[in-house]
Amino acid sequence: MMHAPAASLSALKNDQIHVWTASLQASSSELALARTWLSEPETERAERYRFEKDQRRFIIGRAWLRKCLGRYLDVDPGIVPLRTGRHGKPELPQELRFNLTRSSEHAMIALSWRRPLGVDLEIQDRERGTHNSAIADTLFSSSERRVLSQADPERAADLFLRLWTRKEALAKAHGEGLGIALHDLSIPLVESARPLEFSSLGQSWTLLPVEAPPQHCAALVAQGRFRAQVIQNSRLISKIGSVFPESLL
Ligand SMILES: CC(C)(COP(=O)(O)OP(=O)(O)OC[C@H]1O[C@@H](n2cnc3c(N)ncnc32)[C@H](O)[C@@H]1OP(=O)(O)O)[C@@H](O)C(=O)NCCC(=O)NCCS
Repeated sequence: MMHAPAASLSALKNDQIHVWTASLQASSSELALARTWLSEPETERAERYRFEKDQRRFIIGRAWLRKCLGRYLDVDPGIVPLRTGRHGKPELPQELRFNLTRSSEHAMIALSWRRPLGVDLEIQDRERGTHNSAIADTLFSSSERRVLSQADPERAADLFLRLWTRKEALAKAHGEGLGIALHDLSIPLVESARPLEFSSLGQSWTLLPVEAPPQHCAALVAQGRFRAQVIQNSRLISKIGSVFPESLL
């Protein structure tokens, strides 16, 4: 994995996949700026969040998404023509494909040219053991449950998160999200620093290596069998009001 994405469409057209990790924390002036970039439906959605923290995370996540897409499309964040596709998946009229995930104070955005993709980020929560096993019983396949039950308790929580983020990344790449029958989704169970090709839902996919922030687990799935190069920013981008740091571009 390299560490300096150039936010250019031509790099994506050369079968690269770019991944940006950004902070969802923001000062009140940054939040005010971010609000000005949102569309009317996005603003209405933001208003529906009951807790300020959730509202801020949604607004800043969308602002990062708009800012990032704007860099590739060479337009201002506020006029990125984002629209809502099937099952609520945000999309563009162009063939620039992307997916966003948020967990606690971080967002990750993955981009490709033409290849549908899904990314998922989850924070590691050691207290969730019982909850995890209830999820596993309903949403994991029998072979996944077997692998989980054979893991020693120390590893089981990490393994759970690895399987869960992979499933969710696949569901998001496919576009149906969690509406899909998750126990029917087969995903690679092995750990690998290389892309892993696999079949699921009658299509081929590739699980790509991606770095998560500390205490998080992340997964990235793109449609098709290929050896795309994943290029990821190594530092968290944290100032929504600044331009994307030039050193990373
Ligand atoms: C997509 C989904 C899996 C997100 O799960 P999550 O773990 O809560 O959230 P993540 O942070 O990983 O991802 C959220 C982002 O995924 C993207 N997203 C939304 N719907 C999506 C879909 N169907 N497929 C892929 N990505 C989607 C959005 O960018 C969203 O960010 P937003 O909240 O700023 O809009 C879940 O919301 C889902 O299953 N949605 C589809 C269900 C459906 O059919 N809804 C109908 C609405 S019209």
